[in-house]
Amino acid sequence: MTKTAPQLLVPARAFNAVYLPYLQAPQRVQLFFGGAGSGKSAFLAARAVLDALSGRNTLVVRQVARTLRASCFAEVQKSISRFGLSHMFSISKSELSVTCYSNGAQLLFLGLDDVEKVKSLTPRRGALTDIWVEEATETRRADLRQLEKRLRGPSAHSKRLTLSFNPVSRGHWLYKEYFAAFPEDRGLLITPDLLILRTTYRDNRFLAPDDIRALEAEKDPYFHQVYTLGEWGQLGGSVFSNWAVGEPPREIDRTWLRCGLDFGYAADPAAAVLAAFDRKKGTLYILEEFKQAGLTNDLLALRLKALCGTLPVTCDSAEPKSIAELRRHGVQALPARKGPDSVLHGLQWLNQQKMVLAPKCVHLREELLGCRWADDGHGGFLPRPAGEDHLIDALRYAMERDSQGQAALALCR
Ligand SMILES: Nc1ncnc2c1ncn2[C@@H]1O[C@H](COP(=O)(O)OP(=O)(O)O)[C@@H](O)[C@H]1O
Ligand SMILES: [Mg+2]
Repeated sequence: MTKTAPQLLVPARAFNAVYLPYLQAPQRVQLFFGGAGSGKSAFLAARAVLDALSGRNTLVVRQVARTLRASCFAEVQKSISRFGLSHMFSISKSELSVTCYSNGAQLLFLGLDDVEKVKSLTPRRGALTDIWVEEATETRRADLRQLEKRLRGPSAHSKRLTLSFNPVSRGHWLYKEYFAAFPEDRGLLITPDLLILRTTYRDNRFLAPDDIRALEAEKDPYFHQVYTLGEWGQLGGSVFSNWAVGEPPREIDRTWLRCGLDFGYAADPAAAVLAAFDRKKGTLYILEEFKQAGLTNDLLALRLKALCGTLPVTCDSAEPKSIAELRRHGVQALPARKGPDSVLHGLQWLNQQKMVLAPKCVHLREELLGCRWADDGHGGFLPRPAGEDHLIDALRYAMERDSQGQAALALCR
């Protein structure tokens, strides 16, 4: 029986519209990145299947071989059956390969950790025309460059390296290498050699309602940025990622309440917070804040009493005279213990709790959003914040007894 490639008409509705213009994109390097569930993998799998019908050979790559079967290989199989093309392809589940009966073109699957295969894998007929690297942020730059060398040899087709990934961190080499001229607002860059397209779940009309809800409900700011919005994440530089704005519970045990103060007068504001710590749940509710410059200690005492009544207030210990004055004005002011590495420990402890910030605490929200580890000048970070965050300092003091107690316990174990 002879098999010839019939004319194939694939309806546009089989695709998400955002990807349609790129079914035959010619660029040498193509980056499809963005949020989770945006249809990147489904599109690239479908494109590779259609490409095989026109004689292209695609190498589908992931860093780890054992992850291929359930991801790219499964996605390619789904595409073949969606298009009703099962009779056109032979699928080898043991070798992880897909071969087009009519022209011998192949989709081969490769894990970069499978050293033997990396060296030996070549298509049966013709040159390798395409490499698709899925979750490309998992791969090292040098490995990718090695891989790219496989796109050699005579072929009637243009050669393409296609990468798909979530934008995990601005510190990633992919960002540095390709995104200098990428217009973040448009989400699309097209040059003769480079195509970059950003997509999000909103571009995928095949997504289940549950998946949409889960993505929209993502509270963690970092995960929201990367997986919901499909924007480059700030992990590494950003100190806080474990907080959300929300209402505190109706019932708050008085023993949960904590108050902290960072002194300030002229240029620096005085800053205070009232928090409630549910130790059992590891949840820290931030209830109230104030941040104000120019308060003399008698006025500061009035503000503090309004904020936390008769509760003890843990204060920056650098100002013993101010602490004494506050006490004279009836505030239960106590010096923070601080100690070696107390800033780092305090921040790390805060980061390990789940923080829920009352909507009115807008100044602390600003600080949490902006708080970054200081740059070490070599592409890394120092274990101290880059700027001055007075409310975060006040929160560290407020929670000092809890955090240092816990740190001491951890050391004993
Ligand atoms: N063209 C399509 N036809 C059918 N289902 C699709 C299509 N595009 C995406 N989907 C479905 O949407 C879901 C998310 O798509 P996926 O490609 O995995 O997103 P991403 O790779 O961007 O995270 C998957 O379940 C996938 O099968
Ligand atoms: Mg994917």
